[in-house]
Amino acid sequence: MTTYTLPTFLDWLAEQRSRGLVHYDDRQQVWQVLGHPEVSAVLSDPALFSSDLSSVMPAQDEYLLFQKGNFVRMDPPRHRKLRGLVSQVFTPRMVAGLEPRIAAITTELLDATGGSGRLDLIEALAYPLPVIVIAELLGIPAADRPIFRRWADVLFDQADVDPSDPVLEAGRATMNRVAPTIREMNSYLLDHIRSRRAAPGDDLTSRLLAAEVDGEHLDDQEIVGFVGLLLLAGHITTTATLGNTVLSLDEHPGAAAEVRADPGLLPGAIEEGIRCRTPFPRLARRATIATRVGTTMVPSGAILQLWVTAANRDSRVFEHPDRFDIHRSPNPHLSFGHGIHFCLGAPLARLEARVALRILLDRYRDIAVAEPIEERNPWIMVSINRLPLEVRAA
Ligand code: HEM
Repeated sequence: MTTYTLPTFLDWLAEQRSRGLVHYDDRQQVWQVLGHPEVSAVLSDPALFSSDLSSVMPAQDEYLLFQKGNFVRMDPPRHRKLRGLVSQVFTPRMVAGLEPRIAAITTELLDATGGSGRLDLIEALAYPLPVIVIAELLGIPAADRPIFRRWADVLFDQADVDPSDPVLEAGRATMNRVAPTIREMNSYLLDHIRSRRAAPGDDLTSRLLAAEVDGEHLDDQEIVGFVGLLLLAGHITTTATLGNTVLSLDEHPGAAAEVRADPGLLPGAIEEGIRCRTPFPRLARRATIATRVGTTMVPSGAILQLWVTAANRDSRVFEHPDRFDIHRSPNPHLSFGHGIHFCLGAPLARLEARVALRILLDRYRDIAVAEPIEERNPWIMVSINRLPLEVRAA
């Protein structure tokens, strides 16, 4: 087994790209898609490229239960209906209203670390902040937060997956490994939903129970799927974004100085962090008929592995793609996806990153990454597990 770091992973992608922007990979037994226009085109056409992989990856019962409201794996018209319902409660206005609370949680978490000295950014801030935000939004008791970490650790612990594994086989093995955790999540979330049904509050779960489209409500199992999606997708990605952006700024002191001098540059720095260190490096789709991707024909039923990391470094779209450029504009990275499944949580992720990084920069005059940092297997997720910082209070 090879240990992958971000540079070795980028080399692996460059080697894949040299075999063609769209090609069949015998080892992984999938079609690799590596160019920006090609990945965008696939994501733009849900009729030709389905998000539903259940025909090639039959799920176990408990997983299917959990999947009922997980609309990231659904196609229209069901996707439109569920996303429409959820969008009623997960609105940009609701997200914008969270800014003071995000600032208060960030301040509280950093206060607990003391003044100058050493802190692990992930442990102190990047991990707990998004979990607290999403758990509060969903009305989940604070005392239960540690169990989400256990779930996320089990579900995303794929340290041993590598490119020599056939993708679908690896997916099935993962599914077997995580089945007990899925069952536990399912029963926890069902209990939570039932308690909200009995005594509704002002949280997202209660509002989801009340939401309605064309006279239709979500059933409990659909809400479990969606709440589970939010809990997991909503926190590990934001943890990744916070850690990745701080690391990128540390690697580029000129950019860090500019952001300090003008915090208005922070959103651009965050976008560039999300482009260069793409949290979810790949997405998947299934061709519904024999069709063309770029200039290559793929057969009906082909499983396409869309390498977002590679698309985000496509020199046909990004000038000097390997350069971390906080002034890059436009920055059409695909890290939040594209088309009908475009990330519903993007405004929340961007807000949390902006507020937390602003407070971090205001609070500490110096922030320097100290060794050793510990990165995840970038083949699965580009994120940092441990990011020790040496900080000096302002
Ligand atoms: C969808 C990435 C943060 C909720 C997606 C997709 C991507 C993505 C790539 C599309 C998947 C596909 O097309 O197959 C990210 C990244 C994040 C982030 C990089 C942080 C930087 C969040 C947050 C939430 C969230 C904070 C919620 C609190 C969702 C949901 C979908 C989604 C509900 C499904 C949308 C649909 O299928 O219509 N995300 N996400 N994400 N994301 Fe995010």
